[in-house]
Amino acid sequence: MTSPLQNLLDGNRRWSAAMHAENPHFFEQLAKQQSPKYLWIGCSDSRVPATQIVDLPPGEIFVQRNVANVVAHSDLNCLSTIQFAVDVLQVEHIIVVGHYGCGGVQAVLDERRLGLVDNWLRHVGDVAEKHHAVLAALDLMSLRNARLCELNAIEQVTNVCRTTMVMDAWERGQKLSVHAWCYSLDNGRMHDLAMHVDSRSALRPAYEQSLQRLLKTPRAQP
Ligand code: CO
Repeated sequence: MTSPLQNLLDGNRRWSAAMHAENPHFFEQLAKQQSPKYLWIGCSDSRVPATQIVDLPPGEIFVQRNVANVVAHSDLNCLSTIQFAVDVLQVEHIIVVGHYGCGGVQAVLDERRLGLVDNWLRHVGDVAEKHHAVLAALDLMSLRNARLCELNAIEQVTNVCRTTMVMDAWERGQKLSVHAWCYSLDNGRMHDLAMHVDSRSALRPAYEQSLQRLLKTPRAQP
């Protein structure tokens, strides 16, 4: 009997064979353990796959994705992923990756009702309210979208930094940095939002600096 997902299964066979041909020990080595240096917190959007767009093979990035790359302090899923990544895998970097043209962000700007997900997107709504004046000053909706995508990534970085797991890691001297990026669907390029936090005391200045730099840019850079 042929599976309705036969095209995917066939693709998997081709991929596995090609990987094996390239390096006969690839899966063997990977099966023993994972030791990724990075935790990626990104959007569920199908156009923003983690390892592929930074040109890394499986095994290099631990991944958490949800609609609009939100880090909510009540989300057991995301908190558990951060805890496992920091305490067990001991990743050295956590990257919050927003993307321009995010549908979740756009739904917030349009005040569109989509269903249950509206409750989740309230977190992005909070970011929009916090930066209301900045967004209101932009005349084009596409610019407002781009800016809110950037602001959301920066704000979610602060949420990561304020988790007990990350604060405890810094407290015991563990090497760990948290970063904000925003990805452009238009050309496949990543934008570094210049927010890099490597200690509790660095959070506030890094946030202010990144925000100032962002607001100095005449327009968002989709
Ligand atoms: Co998105």
